[in-house]
Amino acid sequence: MQELIARTRTFRRFFEKEKISTTTLHDLIDAARLGGSAANCQPWQYMLVNTPEACAQVFPHLGWAAYLADWPGPVSGERPSAYIFCLLNHQLLIGPEGNALFDLGIASQNILLTAMELRLGGCRIMNFKPALAALFHLPEHLSLRLVIALGKPKETVQSDECLDNSIRYWRDDKGVHHVPKRSLASCLLPCPLS
Ligand SMILES: Cc1cc2nc3c(=O)[nH]c(=O)nc-3n(C[C@H](O)[C@H](O)[C@H](O)COP(=O)(O)O)c2cc1C
Repeated sequence: MQELIARTRTFRRFFEKEKISTTTLHDLIDAARLGGSAANCQPWQYMLVNTPEACAQVFPHLGWAAYLADWPGPVSGERPSAYIFCLLNHQLLIGPEGNALFDLGIASQNILLTAMELRLGGCRIMNFKPALAALFHLPEHLSLRLVIALGKPKETVQSDECLDNSIRYWRDDKGVHHVPKRSLASCLLPCPLS
């Protein structure tokens, strides 16, 4: 499990020609739906896209890797071949929306872990243009909150120990993407009870 978690990084460049079947996407949603849920209200529903035509409509609305200022996002041929749209159903929600966002973190991690086990990679995208939601003609009780881009990874991504509090991810001259992660020691606080 530790090894799978370590490998489950964010990927933003893909072999675009490698398709992801609807059956595979259903397997990912099966993993999402079994995650924990505050008050077990399970307010998240998903729309799936895996055709080149639909993917082409989605792509212009997405914001990629804000820390890589000179990189506008994946070029044609390296773009995602599927997307999962995470929609909050306000009719199913119990309590504040913040509770549901915990659920979405759990669900989306289940999706990315399951994808990685299938040698697929992905990127959560919260930075999308409002016009993206308009494409779906959503009824009032559904709100688009997160997009998960998916594909067969075409980049190496590794986590490094975070030094000097510098948390910005970066890409080296070989194109390897580095993600600084805080050390175990720096995540532990002394507990007055023990
Ligand atoms: C809630 C959430 C929203 C994110 N939104 C974006 C986004 O809009 N665009 C993007 O390129 N990456 C986005 N990411 C990916 C993060 O940049 C990435 O998780 C972070 O750099 C750490 O890398 P790791 O996932 O490999 O640990 C998002 C991640 C999370 C958890």
